[in-house]
Amino acid sequence: MKTFPFIYNGPREFIQSLQPKEWADFFLGELNPRFSVTAIKAKVVSVIDETSDAKTLVLKPNWLWKGFQSGQHVPVTVEIGGRRVTRFFSLSSHPKDKYLHITVKRQKGGLVSNFLNQNIKTGDLLELGEASGEFVLTKDVPNELLFLAGGSGITPIHSILKELQAIKYSGKAKLLYFVRSYDDIILKSSLESIAKDANWLTIHYIFSEIPKEGFSSGFLSKEILDQHVSNLKTSSVYVCGPSPMQTKALSLLEGLPVKSELFLLPGQNQTNVKKEGTVDVFLTLSHKTIQVKGERSILEELEEQGIYPQSGCRMGICHTCVCKKQTGEVTDLSNGEKSQLGEENIQICVSRAESNLELEL
Ligand code: FES
Repeated sequence: MKTFPFIYNGPREFIQSLQPKEWADFFLGELNPRFSVTAIKAKVVSVIDETSDAKTLVLKPNWLWKGFQSGQHVPVTVEIGGRRVTRFFSLSSHPKDKYLHITVKRQKGGLVSNFLNQNIKTGDLLELGEASGEFVLTKDVPNELLFLAGGSGITPIHSILKELQAIKYSGKAKLLYFVRSYDDIILKSSLESIAKDANWLTIHYIFSEIPKEGFSSGFLSKEILDQHVSNLKTSSVYVCGPSPMQTKALSLLEGLPVKSELFLLPGQNQTNVKKEGTVDVFLTLSHKTIQVKGERSILEELEEQGIYPQSGCRMGICHTCVCKKQTGEVTDLSNGEKSQLGEENIQICVSRAESNLELEL
């Protein structure tokens, strides 16, 4: 087989190892780094500062991108310190916009959200997966809609509002946006331009940390709902925000049609369990035994020790982290249920070790 020293100076073995699709990727990548037949690559066309800790990345994906529905999220893979890391972000643009937008708020301890905010610039490439998620409008759009957004949970709701604008929605919608302060409102000018353009949308900002005259303050509560929503019993509700807000919303809205999307912050998988001692986790494929405390998800505890299994959403949605548990007991952190002791597949991002384990990793 011929080598191509004039294009690629790598060893002959590298060229010989390429499969047909990889060959195509290799040559296409020489033409334009965004071109690929195997991966959805997106070029960063511009970066917009939304607040002091949130940016919108404007992306031009390649031909493998199949589109999305307003409200869905997308896996974004970046290489940080030599390892590929994937996280899910909601798309904040409308499906018919020229470019994709993802709006990313920096999270304390958030590896990827901090990386995207600090390092990504115009011209960079990101790798995307396919869009997915059920946090979308129903086919028959209800006449009365209530949106409850918390912090960066506004991003999929912003996309849904743009969809309502596009279909010339004729009902009534209300957005209660819970955010730390006036300066932390994400996508403010776009939200207000939708509201200005449409007589169907009312927006209320509610500040949890720094009150502002003329605005409500506090967290989601019955009082705040009573104060702002007169038609709660007949509304269809969309909730997107951090876990405490989500839990509160679901308890306040019991019996109503509610769609919700959870935004987990780093570390929220843990359930504050303090344990004495450690348990052994034997990784059968790499023949390693490590000790973990069993206080947090197995994924977090492995990463803490420099072992980085595949992961994506880190909240039990995407199944990227599924691996076979051969023996041992885990707790499923999404519902608190304990597993059987025998063989089964587990999602290590939402599983906590309860006993010694054998994992096919
Ligand atoms: S990383 Fe998505 S389910 Fe675990």
